[in-house]
Amino acid sequence: MTVAYAPGKIILFGEHAVVYGRPAIAVPVTQVRAQVVVGHGEKGRGIVIVARDLGHTFTIARGKAKQMTNPLQIMVANALEYLGLGLERDLRITIESSIPIARGLGSGAAVSTAMTRALARYFSRELTAEEVSDLVYEVEKLHHGTPSGIDNTVIAHQRPVYFTREQKSETFQVAKPLLFIIADTGVESPTKMVVGAVRQAWEESKDRYEALFSSVGDVAKRARWAIEEGDVDEVGRLMDENHRLLQAMDVSSSQLDALVKAAKRHGALGAKLSGAGRGGNMIALVTPQTCEVVKDALEREGAQGVIQTEVQVSMV
Ligand code: PMV
Repeated sequence: MTVAYAPGKIILFGEHAVVYGRPAIAVPVTQVRAQVVVGHGEKGRGIVIVARDLGHTFTIARGKAKQMTNPLQIMVANALEYLGLGLERDLRITIESSIPIARGLGSGAAVSTAMTRALARYFSRELTAEEVSDLVYEVEKLHHGTPSGIDNTVIAHQRPVYFTREQKSETFQVAKPLLFIIADTGVESPTKMVVGAVRQAWEESKDRYEALFSSVGDVAKRARWAIEEGDVDEVGRLMDENHRLLQAMDVSSSQLDALVKAAKRHGALGAKLSGAGRGGNMIALVTPQTCEVVKDALEREGAQGVIQTEVQVSMV
């Protein structure tokens, strides 16, 4: 049996605008993760994929590989094909994940990443992070429609990324640790739907949305510089600015805004929604001194789950 893991992620700056070619910043969140175990399957049953959290089992029966519709089946098929292996085999693949689904924490990309790594390892093969990321991107298209590629990149590389679509992703120095609280509105918000709504709004008011995207891109650039310089206060201010721009794009919600306000009122340096928006998670930048107060305030405001994560100092 072989096991592999992949972390969740948060977008610190630049969601949505990144789909339209502006830069964005994302970091892995190791406090939540997807786990995939690959083992021998029962003889003659084909490939059995057990998704524990969904309570579903998917099968790729021998001789029936053409009938796949589920992204999990397609991920397995793509990975095996890439490894030069056929589908006519018996395997048992078990998926478990502590990453909440459809909340902007990258659950789909994390499951796909752990799956690809576990399959490669099971067949004693090594894949680079780049190869894993590319394979996962193909399946992200099924989840997202027009994904920018930031989720698969940050999760497969497992390090902070400064990402611009169709360019090689960059990592960067983190001069001072950044402590975040991630709070869940409890509202499921499929990325594909929100990305679709933004596309429609962009089609109707191209100039306005292009200007908003450019302002977000500028915030992401300044944020990279602030993180590299260790200017944590400025990182917080830029998060506030990014949230206002996301509100103007109409991807926030009353719950997200209430959590953002509560965090700010209780001393967060900055706060914004993270991911597609209209539900899912928000993030607040805190210090060791304000961390507990902000966490309590978010819970009182109705957050369904609160995670603390730190982006550690790193040199490139
Ligand atoms: O997977 P989510 O919900 O974190 O959204 C990804 C961020 C978007 O910019 C909204 C979409 C994308 O593909 O980059």
